[in-house]
Amino acid sequence: VREGRVVAAGPEDDVRRAVTGTPDHRDAGGALVLPGWVDAHTHLLFAGTREDEFAMRAAGRSYAEIAAAGGGIHSSVRRFRETPDETILAGARRYLDQALALGTTTMEVKSGYGLSTDEELRALRLVKTLAGTHPVKIVPTFLGAHEIPRGVERAAYVRAVVEEMLPRVAAERLAEFCDVFCEQGVFTPEESARVLEAARALGLGLKLHADEFGDTGGSRLAARLGAVSADHLHATPLDAIRALAAAGVVGVLLPGTSFFLDLPAKARARDMVGEGLPVAVASDFNPGSCMSQSMPLMVSLACVQLRLSPAEALVAATANGAAALGRGSRVGHLRPGWEADFQILDLPRHALVPYHFGVSHVRAVFRDGRQVAGAPLAAAL
Ligand code: NIG
Ligand code: FE
Repeated sequence: VREGRVVAAGPEDDVRRAVTGTPDHRDAGGALVLPGWVDAHTHLLFAGTREDEFAMRAAGRSYAEIAAAGGGIHSSVRRFRETPDETILAGARRYLDQALALGTTTMEVKSGYGLSTDEELRALRLVKTLAGTHPVKIVPTFLGAHEIPRGVERAAYVRAVVEEMLPRVAAERLAEFCDVFCEQGVFTPEESARVLEAARALGLGLKLHADEFGDTGGSRLAARLGAVSADHLHATPLDAIRALAAAGVVGVLLPGTSFFLDLPAKARARDMVGEGLPVAVASDFNPGSCMSQSMPLMVSLACVQLRLSPAEALVAATANGAAALGRGSRVGHLRPGWEADFQILDLPRHALVPYHFGVSHVRAVFRDGRQVAGAPLAAAL
């Protein structure tokens, strides 16, 4: 690594030949070096927690029932609006520290618990503050269309997202992407298209929460609009998988959510790989449907529940995550010229990463060539 970039990667002799001068040489002692995780889908900026809903689900209630009874996203919106900036930032920093310690070096973070112009802008400004002060590289996404806030008529809210929020988000350069929760009872494909087309006209990249609970046309819409990614895809049928592949969309799979909500339908990852759809694996970290930002856990779930091979799951959680964030030629891969974001794991082989689950194997984490987590690695000759 030199000046934050990878110079060479591969067998030791090749690396020695490629590196001239006197490198800063550290010996990882036979440990495994992987790119840092690229977590391409999180709702990390939230206030409070919803362990009461978790207990209700354990007692047999569903996510949809709890949401209809006033829990769900609405309860996090209430908490977000009444919580001061510093408290939200302190929580978010702690969650980011935990992710970094588990090897995450790039993370997408969505707004979406403000649901008014002022509160959504506040959320994105807080994300910007985090991005400037935390070693995890943060990619901001505007998700004003996460839910229809209580007391606002749906057409009026869609209009506010399109006419008030998006122009300000774009003018203040507060987000790279715009996302919509396209789902039965939330935003229809038509409303989603209105929001995303307005976002595209303002220069934002497009993402979509598609087919999380049912096939409501979200993935077909993502394909038609040429979104960068379509996320969840639990209920996506084969023809829509083909449409996504043909349109060059990345499928972002969130196995932590199907696990945490114990959803009957799982993403058809094998069909996706078979149809040539690049799949990423991300956490969906949020207080309702997946209270974990552990990428190693997501990688294990991707193998066990989605039947990805260990190698496929590792690529999905690094290089393909980067592609889902428009950073496919910058991060997620240890390749000459790529940003030197990597983790050193106390494991001899990559196949052990998803296999030995539930404990951390991370010894050290580097961002742009500088160590940002773990015990200091000794210099060696
Ligand atoms: O990705 N799908 C919408 N949003 C989250 C859930 C958010 C929440 O429950 O607070 C998700 O599952
Ligand atoms: Fe989500």
